[in-house]
Amino acid sequence: MSKLELNDVNIYYGDFHAVQNVNMHIPAQAVTAFIGPSGCGKSTVLRTLNRMHEVIPNASVRGEILLDGHDIYGPKVDPVGVRNTIGMVFQKANPFPTMSIEDNVVAGLMLSGEKNRKKLKEVAEESLRGANLWEEVKDRLDKPGGGLSGGQQQRLCIARAIAVRPEVLLMDEPCSALDPISTLAVEDLIHELKNDYTIVIVTHNMQQAARVSDKTAFFSLEATGKPGHLVEFNDTTTIFENPGKKETEDYIAGRFG
Ligand SMILES: Nc1ncnc2c1ncn2[C@@H]1O[C@H](COP(=O)(O)OP(=O)(O)O)[C@@H](O)[C@H]1O
Ligand SMILES: [Mg+2]
Repeated sequence: MSKLELNDVNIYYGDFHAVQNVNMHIPAQAVTAFIGPSGCGKSTVLRTLNRMHEVIPNASVRGEILLDGHDIYGPKVDPVGVRNTIGMVFQKANPFPTMSIEDNVVAGLMLSGEKNRKKLKEVAEESLRGANLWEEVKDRLDKPGGGLSGGQQQRLCIARAIAVRPEVLLMDEPCSALDPISTLAVEDLIHELKNDYTIVIVTHNMQQAARVSDKTAFFSLEATGKPGHLVEFNDTTTIFENPGKKETEDYIAGRFG
C-alpha cells in the first residue's frame, strides 16, 4: 500500500489557486523526488503533506491526503501529531546556533517533556549515527551547533528530524546551499534512510533526482499566475529515459547535463 495518497488535491493562497488537482500514490520506504520549474508548486505540495501549509495566513487545501489510508486532515486529527509523524528538513540548515550539538538533536524531545539525561543521550547518539554524523561530532557534543560546517549542520537537522522517530521525511532542496562533497554525504544518507523512512525530496538538480530517487513527479505550470499541476509521475528511470509526455521530455532534455 502507498504511504501517502493524494486525491484531487487543490492548494490555495487566499484566492490564488497555486496547485491544481494532484493525484499521486507515494510508496513507503522509497525516495520520491519532486522536480519542475520554479513556481510550479513543489514546495507548496510538500508542505501540505505534513500540514505546514495551513500555518500560512489564508492558505487552504481541498481534496484528500491519506497517510497509511487515514486522512491527515480528518476532523479529529491533531496537526502537531501529523508533523511528528511526517518530519521536515529545509533548504537552509536551521540548527539552534548557540545550543549544543547534542541538545540540538533532542530539542524536540526536551520540548515534549523528556528530562531523563541518559535517555536523551541515547536518542542523540542513535540519531547522530542515523544521520552519518556521529563519528564527526562525538568528541564535541557539548559544543554549539552553529560551529559545524554547512553540510554537517544539514545532517544535524536530519538527526533532529529523525530523533522524534517519524515515518516520513520531507526535504525541500536540502542540498541547494551545500558544496558538492557535503551534497554527496547527504545523498548517501538519504539512500540509507530509505530503509527505514519514506522520503519525499524537492530538488532543482536533475542529476540529484536521478541519483537518489526511485520515483519522480514532474510538476509544471502554463504561465506565471496559473496553477501548477502534476504532469507525470513514474519510476525515476522511466521519467528520465522514456517519459510519457513531451513536456517532461523537453524539460529533462533542457535541464539535464
Ligand atoms: N506564502 C505564500 N503566499 C502566497 N503565494 C505563495 C506563497 N508561497 C508560494 N506561493 C506561490 O505559489 C506558487 C508555487 O510556489 P512554490 O510552491 O514555492 O513553487 P516551487 O517550490 O515549485 O518553486 C508560486 O506562484 C508562488 O509565488
Ligand atoms: Mg520551492
